[in-house]
Amino acid sequence: MKELTLQIKYAEYPELAMVAMQDRLLIEKAREAASNGYAPYSGFQVGAAVLLENGIIITGNNQENAAYPSGLCAERTAIFYAASQYPAIPIRAIAVSALKTQSGDFVKPCGACRQVIAEYEDLAKSPIRIILDGPSTIVILDSIDALLPLRFKKEDLRLG
Ligand code: THU
Repeated sequence: MKELTLQIKYAEYPELAMVAMQDRLLIEKAREAASNGYAPYSGFQVGAAVLLENGIIITGNNQENAAYPSGLCAERTAIFYAASQYPAIPIRAIAVSALKTQSGDFVKPCGACRQVIAEYEDLAKSPIRIILDGPSTIVILDSIDALLPLRFKKEDLRLG
């Protein structure tokens, strides 16, 4: 038996003013998108803003449904729209923001959204910067690797 340890690296910012201009713009777009989130069941409105390599920003928000699993998170709403409209353009960054949180903590993407972010990072073979907004802390990670280590990858599938 061998015990291994994985470490993740991320940056924490105590206020928006300390965040680099381009990241700040993306957070502002995610905040704006959060206010249009359709979340009558959870009351937890979330927005996401995706920055493409060509500079275009696509936003999305969570869309809930009376049949609960039929809804979709903000991250996937934005990413799937971006990928459907600009299939050849890599995603450079995503910012995620919640309108208000009970915990007061920064937003943490769910497992399914992490897997989806990883798919597009792998596809483009370039890291996606992940910006997680919160009322007192903003967290920035350089790649999905930090949020989803040891993940399932397309190489694990036996294709053809
Ligand atoms: N949600 C998101 O849209 N993104 C996250 O990062 C966390 C959770 C949504 C899904 C659901 O509509 C609501 O928040 C409560 O889970």
